[in-house]
Amino acid sequence: MTNKPLIEPQKKQAHLTVDSSSAQPQSKHSFQTVYTYIQTRIQRGDWQAHAKLPSVRQLAEDTGMHRLTIFKAYQHLKEDGHVYARDKSGYYVQPPALQVLTNEAELGLPLFQGNLGELHRIEANYQFSKALITPNLLPNHYFAEYVKQVFDLYPKLLGTYATAQGDLELREMLQRYFTKTSQFHVHADEILITTGAQQAISLIAEVWIRPGDHVLIESPAYASALDVFEQKGAKLVLVNIDANGYDLVQIEQAMQKYKPRFFYLNPTFHNPTGVCISAEQRKQLVDLAAQYKCLLIEDDTCQDIYFDQKPPLPLFAYDTEGYTIYIRSFSKYVSPGLRMACIVARPEWFTPLLAAKSLADGGTPLLNQKVFLLYFTSNRLQQHIEKLRIALRIRLEIMEEELSSTGWYYESPQGGFNLWVRLPDHISVPELLARCLKQSISFVPGSLFDRHETSQQYIRLCFSFASEQEIRTGIQQLVAIAKDMESNSSE
Ligand SMILES: Cc1ncc(COP(=O)(O)O)c(C=O)c1O
Repeated sequence: MTNKPLIEPQKKQAHLTVDSSSAQPQSKHSFQTVYTYIQTRIQRGDWQAHAKLPSVRQLAEDTGMHRLTIFKAYQHLKEDGHVYARDKSGYYVQPPALQVLTNEAELGLPLFQGNLGELHRIEANYQFSKALITPNLLPNHYFAEYVKQVFDLYPKLLGTYATAQGDLELREMLQRYFTKTSQFHVHADEILITTGAQQAISLIAEVWIRPGDHVLIESPAYASALDVFEQKGAKLVLVNIDANGYDLVQIEQAMQKYKPRFFYLNPTFHNPTGVCISAEQRKQLVDLAAQYKCLLIEDDTCQDIYFDQKPPLPLFAYDTEGYTIYIRSFSKYVSPGLRMACIVARPEWFTPLLAAKSLADGGTPLLNQKVFLLYFTSNRLQQHIEKLRIALRIRLEIMEEELSSTGWYYESPQGGFNLWVRLPDHISVPELLARCLKQSISFVPGSLFDRHETSQQYIRLCFSFASEQEIRTGIQQLVAIAKDMESNSSE
């Protein structure tokens, strides 16, 4: 390990900006600066798992800060699971959860140690890791027709820039759509078109997160949101979500104690658990948000993907005080290739978001917006969604049927794309994944959705990408591999 100098002006990501000429430049935020600096360097790989970190004394000397300030930063890093301490030896980088569970040499297989994007790049015949709808269930053949229609209707389309806020015709259509389906009282000016919900999350992080800020997020949570917020230097405060929804007492305490920048939540067929929060909890959440003046970032990707009953209205509809910012993606079930999503927000939140969007890309491509507009307003869309719901439900039923002999715990989701399954404690999830990948079966280990260890025994199985036959065969094989591991471990 090389101990690089602490203050590195050439490295933009290191956030430690301490005036080392001053003897004790302590402010009440000093330890946060040290915390973020160490966390950032661990994240970008300067210090690998188990590497020894600079001593308290060395950091104190380099920064001119008091040793207690450095010590406090290390204590917080330890509590948050980024570092661990060895008696009389100092602090070391805590490896990601996946690395500590199984011995790679004993297993004779490489363990997967990457992130979700890397997992998705691994080809698999039985694809249960991508929370995507198979292109076979999407209306691809109609799109050529819509592209042609777009050019007939708007011959100069590609000779024009899109506006940063998004096409007015599209925003007006979405305004009518939200009013009708979700009881939103919004104006087209309160809608910002984004290139996927992922961009919406990034814009929100860009506008509201500064290093060391607290952000409330579900545990487990959508993995890419965790990554974006952490990359911005946020301190994540995790709040539980399970089959009963949220623990509102925990949320209230966290809002009171941390005064977070916002609470990012995915309350409708939550990714990865599939949980759908009740209308009662939605109302209570918007009340809490208003009481503690805490923004709610409601990420809604599966509103239309329900199997029997429509989910309750989005939180945005219940919020009369204007503390909810609503992100709605149409990527999954209309066309992932068009990357169409939007943010709905009240004017005071809207202005900085529009500025950030303008800086990010100047506007989502106009051709995509117009093709989406034509398809979204056609009768075909409704027919497509109805068929899609049936097809997805059948796939889920097949998956559950194949899992039924295992006794593994899961709650059957009422919508969405994923089954969140708890494996018994004696099955090592990293080992199961390594063995499955070898057999060309892919799923996501729960640890990728969490920063606590609570999701380590879970796996996310997506049922919307594989065909019915692939689900049957793939899950049978996955179960056989797990049983084989169980019988080997009991020998
Ligand atoms: C909860 C959640 N938010 C956002 C996204 C990203 O959506 P998009 O494809 O529109 O960028 C996903 C995609 O999986 C998701 O599950």
